[in-house]
Amino acid sequence: MAYVLGRVLISKDKIDKMVAGLAERISRDYGEEELIVVGILKGSFIFMADLIRLLRPQVIIDFMSVSSYYENTRSTGIVKIIKDMDVNINGKHVLIVEDIVDSGLTLSNLKELLMTKEPKSLKVCVAFDKPDRRKTEIEADYVGMIIPDEFIVGYGLDYAGKYRNLSDIRIMEPDGGIK
Ligand code: IMP
Ligand code: MG
Repeated sequence: MAYVLGRVLISKDKIDKMVAGLAERISRDYGEEELIVVGILKGSFIFMADLIRLLRPQVIIDFMSVSSYYENTRSTGIVKIIKDMDVNINGKHVLIVEDIVDSGLTLSNLKELLMTKEPKSLKVCVAFDKPDRRKTEIEADYVGMIIPDEFIVGYGLDYAGKYRNLSDIRIMEPDGGIK
């Protein structure tokens, strides 16, 4: 099925407030502790840039790139590490920053992998959560917004590599409906 860019689901203004709320909670939880913030590329780059500028703890950043294989808009559940972290997280507080949790397979695989490096703590922060589509037990520690089962783009999220630069979150809609 082909998809076209549809209506705005979450405005830039609402996203800004959501990020500020998350940053406040994270800052309170970590206090003066140093925190390694690991962004999952590419989807998290805009969210992460906004979030870390509002954090009060000392922050060290790193990135990982993983690829979840999609057929159209549905995850196949296969995750591959494309770029690993550079920083040693052993004995450190680590916060994974991800754009969205959908089936949960990407995050549960990643958490399992990072736990083998024995961080002091490991938490997950996601901008958006689609709980209806979960295939694993995983819950993010910090969730910006719960959204319905729609494929969304903008604010770093893409459809076929496009629309990451949109400031608002929009829905991808089936082109032409039922045929
Ligand atoms: P999961 O493994 O099914 O939880 O999928 C997580 C990854 O799939 C995210 O990091 C996104 O890259 C991508 N993804 C899931 N849902 C959406 C969506 O609605 N829009 C854009 N990307 C999505
Ligand atoms: Mg992603």
